[in-house]
Amino acid sequence: MSEQPTRRDFLGYAGLAAGTLAAGHVAAAASIPANQQQAANGDKPTPPSEKVTVGLIGCGGMGRYNLRESLRLDTVQCAAVCDVDTRHIKDAQADVQKSRGTTPEGYRDYRELLDRKDIDVVIIATPDHWHALTMIEACLAGKDVYLEKPIGHNIVEGRAMVTAAQKCQRVVQVGTQQRSGRHFQKAIELVKSGLLGKIALTRTFNVDNDFWTNPIGKPADSDPPAELDYDRWLGPAPQRPYNEKRCHYWWRYYFDYGSGKCGDWNVHLQDIVHLAMDAWAPISVAAGGGVHAIEDIRETYDTLEAVYDFPGFTQIYSYRATNASTQHDRKYGIVFYGTCGTLVLDREGYEIFPETSTEQVDGLEIGKNRIAAETAGGSDQHWPHIQNFYECVKSRQTPISDIESMHKTTAACHLANIALRCGYKVYWDAQKEICTDKEGRPIEPANQLLGREYRPPWKLPEV
Ligand SMILES: NC(=O)c1ccc[n+]([C@@H]2O[C@H](COP(=O)([O-])OP(=O)(O)OC[C@H]3O[C@@H](n4cnc5c(N)ncnc54)[C@H](O)[C@@H]3O)[C@@H](O)[C@H]2O)c1
Repeated sequence: MSEQPTRRDFLGYAGLAAGTLAAGHVAAAASIPANQQQAANGDKPTPPSEKVTVGLIGCGGMGRYNLRESLRLDTVQCAAVCDVDTRHIKDAQADVQKSRGTTPEGYRDYRELLDRKDIDVVIIATPDHWHALTMIEACLAGKDVYLEKPIGHNIVEGRAMVTAAQKCQRVVQVGTQQRSGRHFQKAIELVKSGLLGKIALTRTFNVDNDFWTNPIGKPADSDPPAELDYDRWLGPAPQRPYNEKRCHYWWRYYFDYGSGKCGDWNVHLQDIVHLAMDAWAPISVAAGGGVHAIEDIRETYDTLEAVYDFPGFTQIYSYRATNASTQHDRKYGIVFYGTCGTLVLDREGYEIFPETSTEQVDGLEIGKNRIAAETAGGSDQHWPHIQNFYECVKSRQTPISDIESMHKTTAACHLANIALRCGYKVYWDAQKEICTDKEGRPIEPANQLLGREYRPPWKLPEV
């Protein structure tokens, strides 16, 4: 399943006002500044002094999308793009040329882009193994950052990124755009209101079937394309021969660069559970799974069941790449199971199913007809998320997907991978951010997987 934004995200301005003005309880999604509304409507050009100058680092699928959406705002202009593949630099330059008639400078080394004093903001959409280095250096260079999820390749990097943002007083928006969706905000409010009763179980899931189509296969290693600086693409990751199905886009299926479906997709889904349940640190995580059926060169699992215990409830993430049988007619989603009803949620909307049990408990009829069935359609997510970022760049307020809480969501996803790779249940000491046994004693090798080795000369910048 593609993680590309939904069709709704590509729609024009029709849903703009409603989507943005819906104040979530998650964080106040501020209304669009008057000058941006005028610009969006094409009424009045923004004076050059009020423009925000952006640079893009990582010109693949998501980076170009983030940049194109940013340039819908007349207040934003693009001066530079950076990629280690010159084909992708040219694609991003062509996007800007098409929408603005200007060609941003192209760079292969992100440090040269960060050296430019005229750049206020960077969008970071590299593979995950580059997020921490680029983001921390961007903060140190005084740039605000729109950072793609998951925030870091691992938990140690995530904490360092939070520190960098705080110490450098940078505005950082993480690319978990579901937080800006009005219907996600409404569903979170409903869960928090207690409507569903006591929620003892939540579930997030992605189901698909790569078995028959097998998009990865077993291609042989080869020389990298001439346009790609493969050594720089690898950067801090271990040296190994080039393989097209480990590089662009496919990197997410290898632990050297990504974190499989749990870090790639569940980070969006599990984030909504954390927000709705106001639970940010699991007590423990156990995971089962592996590459059971699909014979290709992927490293990350085709099957994963991750079971999190939080205070008062259990959260399960299920991933199947071998069978696309849906749950609640959905191939991905979030489910809150309450004693009075069930709420099912995805990017296209939510549904509430009243509990069907009609037993009397202490004179109270539990279930049937106690709450009403309800259905709501989806709402824009990515566009209001982009707007929220640029509003915060101006106002210096904290964006809706702040780095601190997204570190916690990302850490939970990494913990499932750690439990799977170690083969035992991991307890989480959220204060010290270490894995322990049930008695609170630090455990190895789980803690080895909290960080990683860096291939010289690359290292995590000090903050
Ligand atoms: N928010 C969402 O819904 C969403 C959707 C898809 C992807 N993403 C995230 O966006 C990021 C990019 O994913 P993608 O699917 O676009 O991957 P991709 O492989 O298509 O693009 C990554 C780009 O980064 C470039 N790159 C690699 N190292 C670089 C470096 N050191 N400097 C500059 N550029 C470098 C690559 O050459 C490539 O062009 C990931 O973190 C992913 O998780 C988010």
